[in-house]
Amino acid sequence: MPELFDTHCHLDDEKFDEDREEAFLRLREKGVTRLTCVGTDLETSMTCLNFARSHENTYASCGVHPHEAAAAPDGYLDRLRELCREDKIVAIGEIGLDYYYDFSPRDVQKRVLCEQLDLACEMDMPAIFHIRDAHGDMVELFRSRSRLPQGIIHCFSGSRETALEYVRMGFYISFAGPLTFKKAPHLQAAAQAVPLDRLLVETDSPYLAPEPLRGRRNEPANVYYVCEKLAELRGLSMEEMAQVTTENARRIYRV
Ligand code: NI
Repeated sequence: MPELFDTHCHLDDEKFDEDREEAFLRLREKGVTRLTCVGTDLETSMTCLNFARSHENTYASCGVHPHEAAAAPDGYLDRLRELCREDKIVAIGEIGLDYYYDFSPRDVQKRVLCEQLDLACEMDMPAIFHIRDAHGDMVELFRSRSRLPQGIIHCFSGSRETALEYVRMGFYISFAGPLTFKKAPHLQAAAQAVPLDRLLVETDSPYLAPEPLRGRRNEPANVYYVCEKLAELRGLSMEEMAQVTTENARRIYRV
């Protein structure tokens, strides 16, 4: 049985309130042995940390999502700095830019992103990036900085060229359910171009269920289908792709 690592999920989401422990147990049936629960603000970061503390091979990240940037309280960076010292916190995130929803003004999104980039460098932690309809600004912002942390471009949604640009900056590229969709030729071309040692898989559950479960609530066990598609696109066996992506995930998260 291959060992899989769901590098990005939101098991703290209320959509799991009825069956969170069952969803966790179902991981085993698909060979998923590790997962990272990703925070989107201070409260969810704490919830993810508590879940990680009480579950084996489960990790958490802490950070303020661009949607929540305008609501970040004074002193949020100090709270994140404390959280970074916790054993089970493996990354800062998710952080980034979201110009699709624009829930926070763009200048505020950029400020909160830059503050957390600085924190990631200061604490020597990898960052998890959420980037939607904002690749141009993001690449420019990354280029303008003298120091960048290590990081993951989560639920990658750009072109092959954009993926390779992020790889040149040292980042890992993480693919989610949309990779399995029928009308995803650009995403699949990107997945074929990223060097093997930079590929990651995730679910972003409860969102974005992969084929053949598209439209249903997603859960971490389904990272299996994302890895299966990636294996097919790269001409590797499921076991080989599971091994590659799990090794990459353990390297970037240092677990
Ligand atoms: Ni997410």
